[in-house]
Amino acid sequence: MGSGKGYGKTILFGEHFVVYNLPAIASALGSYTTAEVKVVDGKGWEVIDQRPATPGYKEKKYDEAMHSIKNVIEHMNIDVGCQKLEITFSGDLFAASGVGASAAQATSLSRAINETFTLMLDDEKINEAAYEGEKAYHGTPSGIDNTASTYGGLIWFVKNSDGGKSTMEILQSPEKIPLVIANSGITASTTEVVADVRRLKESNPEKFEYIFNEYKVLSEKAKKALLESDKNLIGKLMNQNHKLLQDITVSSEVNDKLVEIAINNGALGAKLTGTGRGGLVIALARNEEIQEKISNAIEMEGYQSWKTMIG
Ligand code: MEV
Repeated sequence: MGSGKGYGKTILFGEHFVVYNLPAIASALGSYTTAEVKVVDGKGWEVIDQRPATPGYKEKKYDEAMHSIKNVIEHMNIDVGCQKLEITFSGDLFAASGVGASAAQATSLSRAINETFTLMLDDEKINEAAYEGEKAYHGTPSGIDNTASTYGGLIWFVKNSDGGKSTMEILQSPEKIPLVIANSGITASTTEVVADVRRLKESNPEKFEYIFNEYKVLSEKAKKALLESDKNLIGKLMNQNHKLLQDITVSSEVNDKLVEIAINNGALGAKLTGTGRGGLVIALARNEEIQEKISNAIEMEGYQSWKTMIG
């Protein structure tokens, strides 16, 4: 038997843009998914999913999750013709759209298989296996989610345009920054939203070129601001990033409403995080008192929220 962990993540800057080889910044969360793998008699594999989750999330993602598990098992060359894997997922990461739940699942499984079969794989190989899992969720994952899930910390990530190794840099910020994560309760399909953005980009390449150029400048400023823990500037850039995400149609009424609640309650900046069209919103707070205020305001409106520190 073996077990392994995969961290959840939040994308601070650059979801969707990262698919087109623009830089993005993500922070791993303290919460993680755990996988336990037991080899039993029989063949194939069986999944016991005990992760806490947004109602409907597991049902909506069921087929993609099974496909992802299959991809990881095959990539890691595990023969399930003469033995059966009993796989149990648990942990304190709340599975919801935007929190990197699929990547955390694939990463934890890769680590658990690595331990069960004493494969002695390093993090780079674990990350590669988890990336194969992520492909089940949409054909062109940037790899940022599995990278944050594998390595943890605050990362600057640029996908390699030729399919080679992507760039990953760990950022060290001088100060931890309070963040609120708000859950819209809506499970979005990453496959559908990423495909919609691609169609839109193909139908209006000039508009996208303009937006991409604006985002590129923003991402460099965000990196510097995070390295200096300049909260005011990070917040301002988050607001600008949200605007660009609205421009590429991945925000929605509920995302904008959660952003507004956060800003009205003292957030320095707020934006959707991850796929969008539901899922999660993140808000940056100057201190833990304001973090608490934002979190309470979101819950008063009937939405779930979590408090975390990034940096
Ligand atoms: C999903 O968490 C982030 C997206 O940018 C997709 C990806 O990076 O593969 C929407």
